[in-house]
Amino acid sequence: MTPDAIKAIKASYAEVTATQRQLASRFYLELFSAAPNLRPLFPQDLTDLQGHFEAALALVVRNLDEMDTLRTPLRDLGAQHVHWGARPEDYVTARNALVAAIGALSSSWDATLEGHWRQAVTAIIVPMLEGAAVHTAIEAERLAGGGA
Ligand code: HEM
Repeated sequence: MTPDAIKAIKASYAEVTATQRQLASRFYLELFSAAPNLRPLFPQDLTDLQGHFEAALALVVRNLDEMDTLRTPLRDLGAQHVHWGARPEDYVTARNALVAAIGALSSSWDATLEGHWRQAVTAIIVPMLEGAAVHTAIEAERLAGGGA
């Protein structure tokens, strides 16, 4: 991402998270209205998860200019998500829900900012999906090697 795009995203993120939990609660609203089938995977009470989600996102936004440092933790997060039932196609739904949530809360939303956000969220979900795939491959190797 260009330095200008990163700057625009950081400013946009600061705006939409000025009120705590606002972005996360809007995200889950968008996610479950686009994909109601995902709701049962999540706990009934989303309060803690909203906090975790915003903390993870804040970390990524802070480190957009050095995403390489986040590859391993994002892969680990993706591996964890296998156990929570996240399928590869759900990540595109989640990306679109997150971009829609940010757009809904932004005062100056346009195609350029939307493009920057789409790119940033893609940079989050790609290592998560890689982590899920590696996790699955390791499990296959373990079984092939005679693991129980
Ligand atoms: C933009 C991509 C995503 C990010 C940044 C993200 C982030 C997170 C974070 C930070 C947590 C909390 C982890 C913890 O408590 O240690 C979490 C939990 C969870 N995520 Fe995601 N997630 C993403 C995509 C998805 C997708 C596509 C699904 C699909 C179903 C999903 C389902 C879940 C579930 C079910 C939980 C945990 C529920 C529980 O605590 O029982 N996430 N996610």
